[in-house]
Amino acid sequence: MLSPILRSATMSSTRSQLNAAAATRLSSIQRHLSTTPSGSRIERMTVFGAGLMGAGIAQVGAQSGLKVTLSDVTDKALENGLNIISKSLSRVAKKKSPDDIEGFTKKILANIETTTDAGKAVEDTDLVVEAIIESIKVKRDLFGFLDSKAKAECIFATNTSSLSVTEIAESCGKERQERFAGLHFFNPVPAMKLVEIIRTPQTSTSTYESLKEVTLRIGKAPVTCNDTPGFIVNRLLVPYLLESIRMVERGDATPEDIDTAMELGAGYPMGPFKLLDFVGLDTTTYIAQGWRGKAASGQISKELVEPIELLDKLVKEGKLGRKSGQGFYEYENKK
Ligand SMILES: NC(=O)c1ccc[n+]([C@@H]2O[C@H](COP(=O)([O-])OP(=O)(O)OC[C@H]3O[C@@H](n4cnc5c(N)ncnc54)[C@H](O)[C@@H]3O)[C@@H](O)[C@H]2O)c1
Repeated sequence: MLSPILRSATMSSTRSQLNAAAATRLSSIQRHLSTTPSGSRIERMTVFGAGLMGAGIAQVGAQSGLKVTLSDVTDKALENGLNIISKSLSRVAKKKSPDDIEGFTKKILANIETTTDAGKAVEDTDLVVEAIIESIKVKRDLFGFLDSKAKAECIFATNTSSLSVTEIAESCGKERQERFAGLHFFNPVPAMKLVEIIRTPQTSTSTYESLKEVTLRIGKAPVTCNDTPGFIVNRLLVPYLLESIRMVERGDATPEDIDTAMELGAGYPMGPFKLLDFVGLDTTTYIAQGWRGKAASGQISKELVEPIELLDKLVKEGKLGRKSGQGFYEYENKK
């Protein structure tokens, strides 16, 4: 089953195809938005969580001219976030300002300040984007605290991938719940153009319009979805990925042939097994496990997320995909 080594060239050509499609979609949304009403303008953004996602969100905000405050629980975590941002900005600078990489990076970093003081972080901010660990309790505790510290007009947004935005918002008062939504970025944030805006039944139209406007200003393409499991992308993608593994388990076809079929027959830029290895087999397993709870309460079909022995076996063996050097494929370099 294990197969040829995928070279990083495959990944980068796939990514550039994705970016071209995203750029076309983005300019069409921008044209459309110029004729639609917008809510209040966001100038200051506070990002909670200086990990992979939070650092990326702070970076793209700062690049678009927002004044960004990045907050985490320790100085070490903030340092880690700033390192992620600096490295990523150097790559951007090589393309955008090859003659003055340091000047370019410095100018954007000047838009970012950091603090471990959560109350201070939201003192005068227009938008909070939370990208901390995926725990409903920790997220609710944070938002409950921030509700009394931030100004009344401030919009709260969560970057959760799998939790209910409505349940997180219920940690705040009624008025804030109208100014609460999901803002779901994709990894890696600086490269991925999509942002899913998740509206709860309480999210007001002006909150939604403000989020749509700021999403476009930071160079991303917004799409809108109700607060349902997996939102748009993961709701469609995860069952498809799981069914691809079931096909291999049944012996219907090999991972290589399924990838080729979906790339050449369906026009997908990356087949399901390349994508599974990129995302991480452990991550896919966690999502499927989380959704089993939602299936039990009838929010999603049970058969979509039935456990798969082959997937569990690979995860148990530490074959997690690109990051471990082996998943459905083998890789020369770990990511
Ligand atoms: N990684 C992805 O591919 C991805 C994609 C989309 C959405 N998300 C979501 O984004 C969020 C963050 O994911 P990540 O991959 O960046 O995680 P991460 O582990 O890289 O970073 C999380 C950060 O949150 C900090 N943190 C924890 N509790 C905190 C608190 N109370 N206040 C402030 N900071 C706190 C941690 O110290 C850490 O630096 C999660 O909700 C995740 O589901 C992740």
